Amino acid sequence: MKMERLPPVKSSLRPSNHPYLNGAWTPLLEEVDATDLEVIEGAIPTDIDGVYMRNTENQVQQPLGRYHPFDGDGMVHMISFKDGHADYRNRFVRTRGFEAEQEAGQSLWGGLMDGPGVSLRPGFGAHGGLKDSSSTDVVVHGGKIVSTFYQCGEAYWLDPETLEQGGVASWGPLDGVSAHTKVDEATGELLFFNYSKHAPYMHYGVVDRHGKLTHYTPVPLPGPRLPHDMAFSANYSILNDLPVFWDEELLKRGIHAVRAHDGLPSRFAVIPRYGQAKDVRWFEAKPTYILHFLNAYEDGDEVVMDAYFQENPTPRPLADAPDGYGHMMGFLDEHSFLPRLHRYRFNLKTGETTERHLDERTLEFGMFNQRYAGKPYRYAYSTTSKPGWFLFTGFVKHDLETGESWEVTLPDGRYASEAPFVPRIGAKDEDDGYLVSFIIDETAGRSECVLIDCKRFEDGPVCRIALPHKISSGTHAVWADRELIRNGFVAG
Ligand SMILES: [Fe+2]
Repeated sequence: MKMERLPPVKSSLRPSNHPYLNGAWTPLLEEVDATDLEVIEGAIPTDIDGVYMRNTENQVQQPLGRYHPFDGDGMVHMISFKDGHADYRNRFVRTRGFEAEQEAGQSLWGGLMDGPGVSLRPGFGAHGGLKDSSSTDVVVHGGKIVSTFYQCGEAYWLDPETLEQGGVASWGPLDGVSAHTKVDEATGELLFFNYSKHAPYMHYGVVDRHGKLTHYTPVPLPGPRLPHDMAFSANYSILNDLPVFWDEELLKRGIHAVRAHDGLPSRFAVIPRYGQAKDVRWFEAKPTYILHFLNAYEDGDEVVMDAYFQENPTPRPLADAPDGYGHMMGFLDEHSFLPRLHRYRFNLKTGETTERHLDERTLEFGMFNQRYAGKPYRYAYSTTSKPGWFLFTGFVKHDLETGESWEVTLPDGRYASEAPFVPRIGAKDEDDGYLVSFIIDETAGRSECVLIDCKRFEDGPVCRIALPHKISSGTHAVWADRELIRNGFVAG
């Protein structure tokens, strides 16, 4: 392996015992380029060609108030595979906020858990006073990485091969872009939504593969809501209005307290890909909150959508958490909010919804073969998590047709990242390929990249590749075939 370090970023962060600034969540401040990574076990497959990327949260400056891991500065890590070789790079996303804090040498914004008046500068997003740290999500669209923030900030571009900064995406609308933009690899279109505290409270848009905003429409809601993700089928996009949102009385005083609103159903907006507000069909369903969706597809008169339905969307503060962090740690603990793999069927003829769990385990952060995005699909891959912690401990593969499932659990002290499906070159079967994930090994104090052959799922990793440094944990990840990077779409 050959490695080059970039000049260090300026950091004012001091050591602390914060549960999400230590261990597998210790911020990484180093940026490197590394080529010809060392293989620890197995061999790098020669039948994949593309890039795996993960966005992680790495707080650079000493927090002004109480730190929440979603406040951390976004850092994109990429590993590029070609002809059995792997290279790695990582870069902070040079957001306006990151650059301003580099210049100031200190934090300028408070975080998600801080009350009004903590931030020294105005901010972006649905909260107003937060820094847009572009730390939530990452996709590849129109040959560029698009990095986004869940509170609706600016979308930031980076080059998928070099991680060179491309600045703010030119197509972003005034109300910003939420995380979980969706790329339809078949057409190269990017679908997105945003949400805000002012009417109409949500918009939906489409950007073509050349980076042009080709569609933007309001999807009016009854008030401020907190949608996190969306889904799409071949002809429709599906947005949501879920009954877990800010307390309206407290919000008038500038306090953002999330609560369940008893008596309200979940509502899903099914809108044609290029539809207007008048074309939206709303479907009601059991109350819940959903962080993430899997795929959606059309089946006769029905739109089928898979999601992770939360049994307990407003969990109690986690016992044993450090003072002042119980509430935060409860909301970060899947074993507190209890997401279940769940299937909705929206009947466009009758307007009825049917829904049911597909599994009773606590699962989230699902992935599937993107060649099947918007189309009928059979295989889903979810992650399992460590009770009490936002840390991934393994993967479950589901055959949604037969109900069969297979599980891989990592040894103690090893934590995964969201693991997209990598199709093998020339694959015919939906599950002919690999799951790819970064691993943080807390015991050994280092990180790896692993690949699991999805046809031999329970055999565990077929290849382990050493990364040049220990990365921090984070949220979302993506795989992009080189064909998608080069052409902006993947030929069917
Ligand atoms: Fe997310």
